[in-house]
Amino acid sequence: MPDGRTGAPGGGPGDVAGQAGEATAGTEVVTVRAPGARLSVRVAGPRDGPVLVLLHGFPLNGSVWDDQLAALSDRWLVIVPDLRGHGRSEAGDGQYTIDFMVDDLFTVLDEIVPPARAAGRHVPVVAGGLSMGGYVVLRAVEREPERFRALVLANTRSAADTDHTRFKRFDAVRAVRERGLGRYAEMFVKTSLGETTRRERPDVVGAVERIVLASDPRGLVGAQLAMACRTDTTEALELLRMPTLVIAGEQDMITPADDAREMATRIAGARLVIIPRAGHTTALEAPGEFTRALEGFLDGLL
Ligand code: MLT
Repeated sequence: MPDGRTGAPGGGPGDVAGQAGEATAGTEVVTVRAPGARLSVRVAGPRDGPVLVLLHGFPLNGSVWDDQLAALSDRWLVIVPDLRGHGRSEAGDGQYTIDFMVDDLFTVLDEIVPPARAAGRHVPVVAGGLSMGGYVVLRAVEREPERFRALVLANTRSAADTDHTRFKRFDAVRAVRERGLGRYAEMFVKTSLGETTRRERPDVVGAVERIVLASDPRGLVGAQLAMACRTDTTEALELLRMPTLVIAGEQDMITPADDAREMATRIAGARLVIIPRAGHTTALEAPGEFTRALEGFLDGLL
């Protein structure tokens, strides 16, 4: 069983990316014990409803899904973990792999949606991941496809890092260790948010900077190294036999929309949505468009 719950009210209408793992009206925060770290997980919606789990990107936290959680939890049991080392989840020893995050995802699902709900079998869930969250989802479905009934892959890719990208990650790790989070937050905002958001949405820019500044550097370094050594899941794309929604941001500089187009062509029957005027953090930069695309896709599954 989860080892702790809180229901403190928090956030509010118009908030952009509230505090990590914060309970808002109708949500509860559950603490799940995973090996070496306690994970903070927000849960909202009918306990016996169809299940949607949403995984945020690096180095953010589950608050990037605030809009989707609010919009969908009347019909869906929405589960939003803060990944290990992010938000209110513990950083543990700071030594991660994407596979450890998959282990965490399975632990969270088994805790919140016990297999008993489907006569001893796992309840198949819809899993959505943004960027690093997508790396976790793709590896999870490669490992245990029977746990999933549909996927949402936002601003993510199946390819492993090139050496060039790995070297950039090593530079980022050095920057955090030698210069601290302030400089890192500035650099991160420049690449992760689209030019329109940076120009027109100082509230979103500020929210992302605050999340980065509040990060545990061990989590940030651990996740960078986990992404650097992740495996390539491209072959798994061609084996997918489940409805899949691929979402991209027109102004994404980290995972360009062309990469999403290419990934979608490898997945049988995939639906592709490109969100205009949004960069890499689509769920937060264009919550209305993102939620509409997600809702349309999920409605087709009910
Ligand atoms: C993310 O948004 O999760 C990261 O930018 C992904 C990455 O660095 O590959």
